[in-house]
Amino acid sequence: MRKIIPLFGCSLLLALVVPAQSVPSMVGPGKAIDPYHYQIVKNAEFSKASVSSAHPLASMVGAAMMKKGGNAFDAAIATQLTLAVVYPGAGNIGGGGFLLARKSSGELIGIDYREAAPEKAGRDMYLDKNGNVQQGLSMAGHLASGVPGTIAGLFATMPYAKLPFAQLIQPAIDIAEKGFVITEREASSLNGTRESFLKYSTRPTAFVKETKWKAGDTLIQKEMAATLKRIQKNGAMGFYEGETAKLIVEEMQRGNGIISLDDLKNYTAKLRTPLEFEYRGHQVISFAPPSSGGLLIAQMLKMIEKYPVGSYGFQTPKSVQLMVEAERRAYADRAEFMGDPDFFKVPVKTLMSDAYVQQRMADYNPDKAGSSKEVKAGTIKESEETTHLSIMDAEGNMVSVTTTLNGGYGSRTVVGGAGFLLNNEMDDFSVKPGVPNMYGAVGGEANAIAPGKRMLSSMTPSLLLKNKKPYVVVGTPGGTTIPTSVYQAIVNIVDFNMNANDAVNQPKFHHQWLPDEVAVEKDFNPETKKMLQAMGYKITERAAIGRTEAIRVLPNGKRETVADKRGDDSVAGF
Ligand code: DON
Repeated sequence: MRKIIPLFGCSLLLALVVPAQSVPSMVGPGKAIDPYHYQIVKNAEFSKASVSSAHPLASMVGAAMMKKGGNAFDAAIATQLTLAVVYPGAGNIGGGGFLLARKSSGELIGIDYREAAPEKAGRDMYLDKNGNVQQGLSMAGHLASGVPGTIAGLFATMPYAKLPFAQLIQPAIDIAEKGFVITEREASSLNGTRESFLKYSTRPTAFVKETKWKAGDTLIQKEMAATLKRIQKNGAMGFYEGETAKLIVEEMQRGNGIISLDDLKNYTAKLRTPLEFEYRGHQVISFAPPSSGGLLIAQMLKMIEKYPVGSYGFQTPKSVQLMVEAERRAYADRAEFMGDPDFFKVPVKTLMSDAYVQQRMADYNPDKAGSSKEVKAGTIKESEETTHLSIMDAEGNMVSVTTTLNGGYGSRTVVGGAGFLLNNEMDDFSVKPGVPNMYGAVGGEANAIAPGKRMLSSMTPSLLLKNKKPYVVVGTPGGTTIPTSVYQAIVNIVDFNMNANDAVNQPKFHHQWLPDEVAVEKDFNPETKKMLQAMGYKITERAAIGRTEAIRVLPNGKRETVADKRGDDSVAGF
């Protein structure tokens, strides 16, 4: 049941091995964490501790923390910090995220550490004097960044953890300082981003070297290590005040950015009450606004619940068409009704209510493609880089975290002297009503820019309970495809009786209202594709959808722990 992909031949890299004493050494009997030799493990059963994340070293560090007596929260903190070092495209301290957890006691926790618009931000900040969007300004460079939330989020997680923070951050410091060996995929994306790093960073960065990166090269990040040490010594103040804050603001000043010392000092993580709903006898728990994800999966699952999806068959024209029409309707609502609840009244209760959701499907026609010109948002009257980690510990705590810089390597601005990348999350706002963002998502008033406001997200860290007991931890990156991926993973498990491995790795499809098309992965069933086209659907082929990490509790209590085949994602545990 264990699939292992060895990455690096020992002989080639032996010369690079430096014993990293303070990297916790065990992940299971006999398994040392060695940043110069590691393996991708796609799938394993563990009984006490499971971590699935986008990088083998990060998963191993998380598991090692549980081995040392920590719980799933300790693992989530250490895994995120390690990802910031070993997976710089999306792991981060300069971005933000959402942590969703269910403690073994049943208590639900939602920590929102989404980036916030700086005080100097404004509704029209990306428009020229004629009111046209200045292409790219919200997507790259200094003006694209929101105030980072990740470090505040990690400290907001600490009350649930057991080990001291200094211990949780140590592996990330060691790996940044002494370096780690990069994968083929990382080498190729660093090479592909070289010109952007040079264009948008004002100081030399560890991510650019004279020759091309190749698999097996060692990436050393001294400035990042120094930043992590300041956080180790001074806590959140080591990031939001003092030297690191000064370096961020100096970087802003060199590149016409607007994040100020006050913006940093005033940033706080917020607790959000998780959304809960039933789907075919399972309890689904997901993230509330400013994520759109929890609401979208609630709407989509409820829209299809009255149909016998399981009997339609996996990815038959009938099941895909029904699921697509639910996606279309839910995403139309996203554009109209969803945004930061502290700035815009999101009609959460109505959007999730059975009556509203059923009425949205009233015009569903199983014989014909719907049309996004006809399907608008409902009427309510009432007063491609991000990363996900799924974790479970021996006590049964479930932690599901999605964290992001937004695009791959965020704004491509590395903070000079501090060695970390800033996000380009401002592009998740609706920069002008009706103008699509980098994921093609449109929005309006609900998601307009305002100082201090958090941009609408699609991140959907989720949990599933069966018979009120832990069943599934799931989530994925993928921009606007995130909620449709999580939705499909849940339907694959609940309706099509798949194990987690198949639920994650089967081909996916995606419709987001606008553009009015169904995007499918390359290996999507060609027969189904033809039949959907015959019904009037426009089908486009696209690259991999998401990188889903899932844990599923088996009837014997073991946890099927799965990392998506679509990346270097890897599991660890014991
Ligand atoms: O919060 C969001 O919805 C986006 N910033 C997520 C971006 C993302 O998943 C990119 N990954 N492929």
